[in-house]
Amino acid sequence: MDSFSKELLQIVKNAKKVAVLTGAGVSAESGIPTFRGSGGYWKNYRAEDLATPEAFQKDPKLVWEWYEMRRGVCANAKPNPAHETIVSMENYYKEFFLITQNVDGLHRRAGNSKIVPIHGDIFTSRCTQCGDISELLEIPLTNLPPICKHCNSLLRPHIVWFGETYFPGVLEGCYSYLSNCELIFIIGTSGQVSVPIQLALYAIQNGAISIEINPDESTITSKVGFYLKGKAGEILPKIWIAKNKD
Ligand code: OAD
Repeated sequence: MDSFSKELLQIVKNAKKVAVLTGAGVSAESGIPTFRGSGGYWKNYRAEDLATPEAFQKDPKLVWEWYEMRRGVCANAKPNPAHETIVSMENYYKEFFLITQNVDGLHRRAGNSKIVPIHGDIFTSRCTQCGDISELLEIPLTNLPPICKHCNSLLRPHIVWFGETYFPGVLEGCYSYLSNCELIFIIGTSGQVSVPIQLALYAIQNGAISIEINPDESTITSKVGFYLKGKAGEILPKIWIAKNKD
């Protein structure tokens, strides 16, 4: 899609308070598999064996091996033009807030700083005993499963697993921002996980104009103001340039 409506470009150009919600699709063009599409992680692995507290209790080494594999994929990936455009957005808009479901760290590496990674970060660990949260940048890890440097207890990935509640205070911060933002971009999420979609719907219900970018329709497509069908790494840079020519 190369031509955008004048109305859309005016909105993108003139908005002051903007939110972006991203999902795995924003990193697909960086070579990181999504979860539910063809070749997605949940097509080849069972989430209940790898991404639940029960799975970790049963076999922490197996869970860490899976995260080790993914940490390697994420570390080797590079931000793509969608990530880069979202950095330009943070610099352009007066108020900006990036909510990502992705744990891959690519938004941070691209240069965004106003990021809330609501599902955690694959390069961060949390101690199962003392709760210490630390960066875990060593790849590959020497010891599997890794152990807390403070109390020698088992570390776990600092990621929200199925069946767990979100980190304290995180959603409150999101809802507060979304209660009066003017524009929300919803990029590369299937909307199969309910909390992020509730966040987007909350923004829309509170008056935000919504723009979705996704090659396939999601659970929120019928609710958005503008649905742009296609890849984030192609569409987002094009809108960004087009808004200046309008
Ligand atoms: P999904 O795998 O469910 O959905 C990925 C979405 O990206 C789909 O709607 C695709 O159509 C879309 N997509 C694919 N390529 C794209 C591209 N180049 N540009 C834009 N969109 C593209 O991933 P999420 O919705 O992010 O949880 O999944 C939500 C959560 O489920 C994840 O955060 C993860 C998973 O279990 C945790 O890690 C805790």
